[in-house]
Amino acid sequence: MSLPRVLVTRKLPADVEARLKRDYAPLLNEEDRLFSAGELAARAEGMDAVLATVTDKLDAAAINALPGSVRIIATFSVGYDHIDVAAAAKRGITVTNTPGVLTHATADITLLLLLGAARGAGWGEAMIRQKTWQNWAPSGPLGTDVTGKRLGILGMGRIGQAVALRARAVGMEIHYHNRSRLSEAGEQGAQYHESPEALFAQSDILSINCASTPQTRGLINARTLALLPEGAIVVNSARGDIVDDEALIAALQSGKVAAAGLDVYAGEPDIHPGYRGLSNTFLLPHLGSATRETRNAMGFCALDNLDAFFAGKAPPNPVTP
Ligand code: DGY
Repeated sequence: MSLPRVLVTRKLPADVEARLKRDYAPLLNEEDRLFSAGELAARAEGMDAVLATVTDKLDAAAINALPGSVRIIATFSVGYDHIDVAAAAKRGITVTNTPGVLTHATADITLLLLLGAARGAGWGEAMIRQKTWQNWAPSGPLGTDVTGKRLGILGMGRIGQAVALRARAVGMEIHYHNRSRLSEAGEQGAQYHESPEALFAQSDILSINCASTPQTRGLINARTLALLPEGAIVVNSARGDIVDDEALIAALQSGKVAAAGLDVYAGEPDIHPGYRGLSNTFLLPHLGSATRETRNAMGFCALDNLDAFFAGKAPPNPVTP
């Protein structure tokens, strides 16, 4: 029996590619080149599956351009906002993702962003690199303590809860908004807010941990930023398009928002140039899941989905419209 043919859109960790070669007939991307929708459709000719990542824009047009041989798209990511799942369903294409395995790595990066923004790690490191550090100075520049502050978590799923765990360890008070309220055991003392707006008003530091959906895109905008306490801090390790960049940059310039820690951006890697010029931003290049262990786990999870599908079983992580 011939092995299922899998189009792999990016270079994956070596152990993941080794398992792919063992169990499938993969078309790998050795040069790790980004493919246009047209190139992707051409490479998918005769393929049974596409193993995609967040850099593949699989909108309705791209999905409709895929050849009829493709029966499953397994994304190497927990987020699937880059895939038009409804368009895939219409064509009978199964979509799967990789939840769970990147929770802790992403929560770690969120804490790094939170501390980096609060303590001025961006400008601090720049002083060293640019040789502008003159001496230790009692009066500044200064950051802000996180201990005793209120952390507002927008989106209390797996990652939001893992962020709360870490924030409790540094003495923060946890507030959250989520589509559905957690059980008392799940809340662990966190205070639930019925609406994002109610949460924002109580967030000394706001951490964005929700998925990008039609409801959350642009949710952090001039109107909602105005609800934050004066000098609040904004942290985003979820998706860039949840934030209106112009509005956040204006708030960072006015001091309404004292600092921002960002790992994700609308249109990345071409981020809004306004962020680069601000000393009160701590910026990372989408490193949330970027550890050797986690990237292996994401690859193996994507392969578990393919294995189940091609064994005629329900994949463990299906995504539905
Ligand atoms: C995901 O899996 O959605 C992440 O953004 C990749 O780090």
